[in-house]
Amino acid sequence: MNFSIRQEDTGDYELTEKVVQRAFVDADFSDKREHKLVSRIRKGNTFIPELSLVAVDANGKIAGHILLSKIKIKNSDQHIESLALAPVSVLPDYQNRGLGRQLILEALKRAKELDYQSVIVLGHPEYYPKFGFRKASELGINAPFDVPDEAFMAIELQDNAFQQFSGMVEYPNVFLE
Ligand SMILES: CC(C)(COP(=O)(O)OP(=O)(O)OC[C@H]1O[C@@H](n2cnc3c(N)ncnc32)[C@H](O)[C@@H]1OP(=O)(O)O)[C@@H](O)C(=O)NCCC(=O)NCCS
Repeated sequence: MNFSIRQEDTGDYELTEKVVQRAFVDADFSDKREHKLVSRIRKGNTFIPELSLVAVDANGKIAGHILLSKIKIKNSDQHIESLALAPVSVLPDYQNRGLGRQLILEALKRAKELDYQSVIVLGHPEYYPKFGFRKASELGINAPFDVPDEAFMAIELQDNAFQQFSGMVEYPNVFLE
């Protein structure tokens, strides 16, 4: 089945959250609250409507969602803006058919077009490198909490986005509630 990717509308919010909740139902690392994270991010000032995307099938049914939102990377002298990829969700029945790939590649493309410099993700270390993510630590970027090194990853959207900068990611409070 063919899917198209489009920006999420406010009218999609309720359905999207159901998709997110169902996507994580069997994910063992999940706190089962990812749909609430999506809802909190949408209400705050780190939300970028253009980077909340849904995958819809030919009948308009939402089968997947991805959200990129603003975060900062700080060191003692300065900070730069970056994006967090969190979460990406595909309904269980639609998983492993390339939909996650389509959502991630489209979100990265749109973020690059909007001139964002980089994206950070905490997630499956075997999955995100398929799309160009590397261990963030190799790029001089550290997590603000204990996390397996290989699960904390980053991608530069513009050439050398992290050159001459190293620092620690600062997540907004919506991530910590
Ligand atoms: C993770 C998720 C978004 C991937 O979406 P998907 O549509 O199932 O994945 P795709 O079909 O695009 O997979 C692309 C590739 O990644 C692989 N892959 C899929 N899920 C993976 C996982 N959890 N870990 C490692 N590799 C994975 C696929 O086998 C495929 O490999 P290939 O390119 O060699 O064929 C989806 O499975 C999902 O919603 N899972 C539950 C929620 C979740 O874990 N979200 C991510 C939080 S970090």
